[in-house]
Amino acid sequence: KDKQAMSENQTVMPRALLVPVKGILLPDHIAKDLDAVSAFCPHPSDILIAAFPKSGSTWTAEIVDQLLHNGDVESCRRAPITVRTAFLEAINILPPICRKSSGLHQLKEMAPPRVIKTHLPIQMVPVGFWEKKCKTIYVARNAKDTVVSFYHFHHMNLASPEPGPWESFVHKFMHGELAWGYWHDHVKGFWEEQEKRDILYLFYEDMKENPRREVERIMKYLDLSLSDDDIGHIVELTTFKNMKENPMTNFSFFPPEIYNQSISKFMRKGEVGDWKNHFTPEQSAAFDEDYEKKMKQANIPFKTEL
Ligand SMILES: *[C@@H]1O[C@H](CO)[C@@H](O)[C@H](O)[C@H]1NC(C)=O
Ligand SMILES: *[C@@H]1O[C@H](CO)[C@@H](O)[C@H](O)[C@H]1NC(C)=O
Repeated sequence: KDKQAMSENQTVMPRALLVPVKGILLPDHIAKDLDAVSAFCPHPSDILIAAFPKSGSTWTAEIVDQLLHNGDVESCRRAPITVRTAFLEAINILPPICRKSSGLHQLKEMAPPRVIKTHLPIQMVPVGFWEKKCKTIYVARNAKDTVVSFYHFHHMNLASPEPGPWESFVHKFMHGELAWGYWHDHVKGFWEEQEKRDILYLFYEDMKENPRREVERIMKYLDLSLSDDDIGHIVELTTFKNMKENPMTNFSFFPPEIYNQSISKFMRKGEVGDWKNHFTPEQSAAFDEDYEKKMKQANIPFKTEL
């Protein structure tokens, strides 16, 4: 497919191709700059938020940014979430209003403690984060809801590869053929290292079930201490409904040539169990069988419904 150059006034996003990097498929534009990303040297106070795509990294980034700013409404409206927090491996393909530059460039202009998001699997996280003992939060979401969300995201994110039909999309997910590789290895990689590397491992479903409890866990992990009122404000400001209505988190600041929200909203449903509206019973059974094989040993307590 023709990769079209961007003209000055009009952004035509070419859909990404996936290329393997150390056995992991990544969007070509991200793969290109990965050596520079690996060499990134964080400050010890920087906070890393890692997740497979569509698992709650934007949500967690918003909570962490709020915690660092005591949860006042103005702080979460001061700039788009993509400016307040940096997407480590992002490269400069976006117009300046939504991201001025690549993640690395953006980081140079931010003062620690910086909130840094990544979708990289653990073996690709720059070693500097471990050497500096940076606080690292991982957020995981059950596989079935993740694949549903990723599917809708591929439709509206015109910079991602063509999703193709649902049936084959699920197949690709099961076989590590989507961007960022196997979901299974991603969630297991951080799970297995959580104690050794002092990673706070969160579940999207727990955050839905009891947001206050999870916000408090994040607060304690970050060695912060906020008043009950401030915690309450953060819980309120980071509900799905409020983040969907907050122009600094709902990606209305992204141009529709990249995120076309008439196709599907960036903040789409934010529910646990929406997979039931997408999987046929046969697909669900085949998925579960494959899941058992890949995930049994790891024994990670995912919930697929609340
Ligand atoms: C984002 O929030 C603004 C303000 O509430 C709203 O007008 C807009 O429709 C929202 N955009 C999306 C895509 O949800
Ligand atoms: C977004 O998608 C809608 C619905 O498919 C389409 O009519 C519109 O032209 C698209 N906008 C852009 C900027 O691509």
